[in-house]
Amino acid sequence: MIEREEMEIPERVVATEAPNEEREFEVGLRPQSLQDFVGQDDIKENLSIFIEAAKKRQEPIEHVLLYGNPGLGKTTLAHIIAHEMGSQIRVTSGPALERVGDLAAILSNLGQSDILFIDEIHRLNKTIEEVLYPAMEDYALDIIVGKGPTARTLRLNLERFTLIGATTRLSLLSSPLRDRFGVTHHLNFYEDAHIGQIVKRSAGLLKTSIDDASIDILASRSRRTPRIANRLLRRVRDFADVRAQGNISSSVCKDAMGMLNIDHLGLDQTDRRILATIIEKFNGGPVGLSTIAAATQEEIETIEDVHEPFLIQVGFLARTPRGRVVTSHAYKHLGL
Ligand SMILES: Nc1ncnc2c1ncn2[C@@H]1O[C@H](COP(=O)(O)OP(=O)(O)OP(=O)(O)O)[C@@H](O)[C@H]1O
Ligand SMILES: [Mg+2]
Repeated sequence: MIEREEMEIPERVVATEAPNEEREFEVGLRPQSLQDFVGQDDIKENLSIFIEAAKKRQEPIEHVLLYGNPGLGKTTLAHIIAHEMGSQIRVTSGPALERVGDLAAILSNLGQSDILFIDEIHRLNKTIEEVLYPAMEDYALDIIVGKGPTARTLRLNLERFTLIGATTRLSLLSSPLRDRFGVTHHLNFYEDAHIGQIVKRSAGLLKTSIDDASIDILASRSRRTPRIANRLLRRVRDFADVRAQGNISSSVCKDAMGMLNIDHLGLDQTDRRILATIIEKFNGGPVGLSTIAAATQEEIETIEDVHEPFLIQVGFLARTPRGRVVTSHAYKHLGL
């Protein structure tokens, strides 16, 4: 039997970004069709009508903007749209597009109805963004040739492509860019029942047997986020392989969650530390984000992207104009 020390305990099971080693695992579990995409029923219905109509007219679909917290399925949906349209997809991201030439090369290589997926689109720099405007609107690329008084603009026509943008921060997107998307979909946190379905589906793909009680335990601790559900399943599977001949049972789940310090609502140590810090050092708030970050020695971005949205979602934290406030539910949860 392997001792606890030898089992790798990831520091952040709730971190919502996927580290590299996890990407491959995620890709294997990624649904390929709208039908396999669990939950988000309104978005699915809208998209399926939208896709079918475009296919009937033999036209590309309008540009789509997807926004929502990390791990809720934006990248997955972008690939599904491409798959359902039968289109090629080219993937890039805001920070990866550094030079106008890079974007121009990508755009001019797109074929009719191809999809360009730009992840973290809020991180595009301004010059690049301006190249996108005519590309999105008129399927054209304006190139400046020459320098000084002899410089002139050449307009290059592009094929009719579809841009899919994804962002976790809609507010950081400039309004001219936002306005150029035909449709915008907001992915919300999932219902526990849908997370349960995702766990079940993933367990099937991983050929791991799991009972309903265990599915419920994992679903209720996954912060309503598919990525975290898959991650917890993976940890529990490791734990079961080492401690329980690969059989996932509710007691195995609970032991694994205990080892990972994840409580019955899915809060981890850092969530609890953030709440406790606000309560103990700042009388429950209101207190500003940067002060919380300094007091807990966490990065502002991590608190804002990972911890805060979920703490607000479960009603433990409230955002007020004067700062963050811990609610009475949080006091109760922490036993204070
Ligand atoms: N509705 C869903 N049904 C089944 N699995 C899902 C669903 N949404 C997401 N997943 C799973 O969760 C993982 C994370 O999803 P995805 O990478 O699409 O999130 P994201 O919103 O793009 O996150 P980020 O903001 O970090 O880029 C995927 O590997 C996929 O397997
Ligand atoms: Mg993504």
